[in-house]
Amino acid sequence: MPEPPDSIAQWTPSPRELDDLDLLVNSAFAPPLPGFVDPRTAGDAAPITLVVSSEAAELALSSKQLDLVDPEGAPLARLAVTGSWPSTQGRIGLVGAVHELATNEFGPFRRLRLTPAQLHASFPADGLLAVPVTRPLTTADIESISKAAGDAGLTAVLIACIGDGMPQGVSGPALVRTTIAAASLITPNAHVVAAAVADHGGDKPHGKWRSANDWLVSAVAQAYASTTLFLPAESHGDLPADIEALVTKDRPPRDRQGVVVFFTGLSGSGKSTLARALVDRVLEQGDRTITSLDGDVVRHHLSKGLGFSREDRETNITRIGFVAAEIARHGGVAVCSPIAPFESTRATVRRMVEQAGGGFVLIHVATPLEECERRDRKGLYARARAGQIPDFTGISSPYEEPVDAIRIDTTQVDIQSCVDQLMNQLVSEGWLRNPGLEG
Ligand code: ADX
Repeated sequence: MPEPPDSIAQWTPSPRELDDLDLLVNSAFAPPLPGFVDPRTAGDAAPITLVVSSEAAELALSSKQLDLVDPEGAPLARLAVTGSWPSTQGRIGLVGAVHELATNEFGPFRRLRLTPAQLHASFPADGLLAVPVTRPLTTADIESISKAAGDAGLTAVLIACIGDGMPQGVSGPALVRTTIAAASLITPNAHVVAAAVADHGGDKPHGKWRSANDWLVSAVAQAYASTTLFLPAESHGDLPADIEALVTKDRPPRDRQGVVVFFTGLSGSGKSTLARALVDRVLEQGDRTITSLDGDVVRHHLSKGLGFSREDRETNITRIGFVAAEIARHGGVAVCSPIAPFESTRATVRRMVEQAGGGFVLIHVATPLEECERRDRKGLYARARAGQIPDFTGISSPYEEPVDAIRIDTTQVDIQSCVDQLMNQLVSEGWLRNPGLEG
């Protein structure tokens, strides 16, 4: 009898693992790979791993099955668990073949996500030249593809590698757009497929390969065609005008890209004051949309009910990061001013924002604890010293000083000068236009 579905544990893989799963269920590896591996014994395929929490691993190992679901909870594949290996931070790697439960129907350019088998139904593998594409193609690239395909009498199939972190210099959809534009310039003709080839590391040697990415790109290309052509990792020469225009549209100049200005510092350090003054200046300038996500204000609505344990603070900051990243995705400016005492949470927010295509400017309002305590506008330090407020940052809870931030000390300089300094910094980094140049 089939098992009732609720007896099988579920797990949402990371974006990178979901991309690997996509390749696995599409049989897009050559030589074929049936599932997630044990990196200690898998040779070249070592990067294709799945890591889960110890609780999920325990359930999966006892039932020998794990359902892999997308972030919305829709089942994608079932893992037949045959082994495990110890990963970092107490997490467990699971090993086993994957079996597709449902075809993923979403994602831009889904119609181009052909599996090798689907492509070969129309074009036999021995008539194709597979060319992995990880960056917009230059005129020189297009010429060398046309020549290689022409000389060998093959049809070029451009494999746009749009997995997590792989496209260089553009978003995934823009990489597909530029690759379609490149295909139209290749003679006599070329096809485009999109594949979930994610970044697994491009700078460390991997077996006989220059990097894990080189191995992966080549394994996928060989699944699509008997003959492959690898372009130089770095682009040389100019982009054709059409492609250049697509890249510029996807990555506009910084003063039209989203940016998150993130103030961190102790309670009473002056973060909110600085943030408000900065917001006012940007509003006066008038060419940016801007939203303030102040620590105390956020805790009144978005994070209402959260306390000050490490876990609650991380939840609070991740929520702020989520909203800030969405603002950045839409080209706006988000000014955040929570304490954000933990390095790892600040790094998470930076990653979220950068993945949304936004810039991240971290500012440490480095007013010393003694000064914050001397000011004690809200009387909180006195109460914390008296033991009435537990886990108070700087007193009974840590503040990890950032090393990757612009540092501002409000004890030395008045607020308006601090804001001048910040505005200059944002203008010089290109995030804001120089108000002096306004017409
Ligand atoms: S964070 O650590 O999660 O980033 P957040 O900036 O949202 O903190 O909230 C800090 C504000 O909450 C402080 O400015 C202060 O007014 C108030 N507060 C109340 N309890 C605490 C506490 N235990 N530690 C720090 N701030 C506290």
